[in-house]
Amino acid sequence: MKKLLILAALLLPSMLAHASDEDGCGQLKECLTAPVDVTNTASLQRGARLFVNYCLGCHTAKYVRYERVADDLGIDHKTMLANMVWTTTKIGDHMISGGRKDEQAAWFGNAPPDLTLETRLRSPDWVYSYLLSFYPDDKRPWGVNNRVFKDVAMPNALETLKTELGDDGFKRAVGDLVNYMTYMAEPVKTKREHIGWWVMGFLVILFIPVYFLNKEYWKDIH
Ligand code: HEC
Repeated sequence: MKKLLILAALLLPSMLAHASDEDGCGQLKECLTAPVDVTNTASLQRGARLFVNYCLGCHTAKYVRYERVADDLGIDHKTMLANMVWTTTKIGDHMISGGRKDEQAAWFGNAPPDLTLETRLRSPDWVYSYLLSFYPDDKRPWGVNNRVFKDVAMPNALETLKTELGDDGFKRAVGDLVNYMTYMAEPVKTKREHIGWWVMGFLVILFIPVYFLNKEYWKDIH
């Protein structure tokens, strides 16, 4: 018991430090909560579509292949390809845009980073808050600024979608998008949780014969 307490005392500060490591959300008092549920396949599918259509024009997701996403999310390969922006894209390709890094850096001032692991680098809540925090600002090159990422070099890529969907619909869409990005950053997460339940079930079942075996062994000794 004492040992356990010492262990907890040692671990607690590092856990707390990790929690506060997360980026703050700039001018927002705290980050908004992203509605992440990587088991919600319909939401992931909608998010994947938004991601391909609105983000891959500038960003890459170079550690994932379209095929993996299609298979994981139950999208058939034809539909996946029909929704691709570039007709030359093949299902086995990594999610890479046609843009060139050096050109983009010149256009935007900063190169758009790869987004495969973005929700792990920042956090789903940060990305969700960021995407919902663009506001008009005439002093900036794209006429927009961002409350979470001050003076960001990214234009508001979702402007038209917001006009199209209205505030509530837009929030839901960004939720789907961030949900997808969370899945993308850790595609095995859903599977791992699944395996976790099997292991638990196995241990519970294993306990029964072990319990009786143990009783049997000690019967004559007591
Ligand atoms: C027109 C090009 C363009 C499009 C389209 C675009 N971005 Fe960006 N994005 C950028 C640039 C440029 C930066 C770098 C900004 C900087 O460092 O100041 C950036 C930065 C970001 C960042 C911050 C990265 C970090 O941690 O520093 C996130 C998150 C992001 N983009 C998400 C998205 C998502 C999600 C989409 C799709 C909805 C998207 N972007 C569409 C150009 C774009």
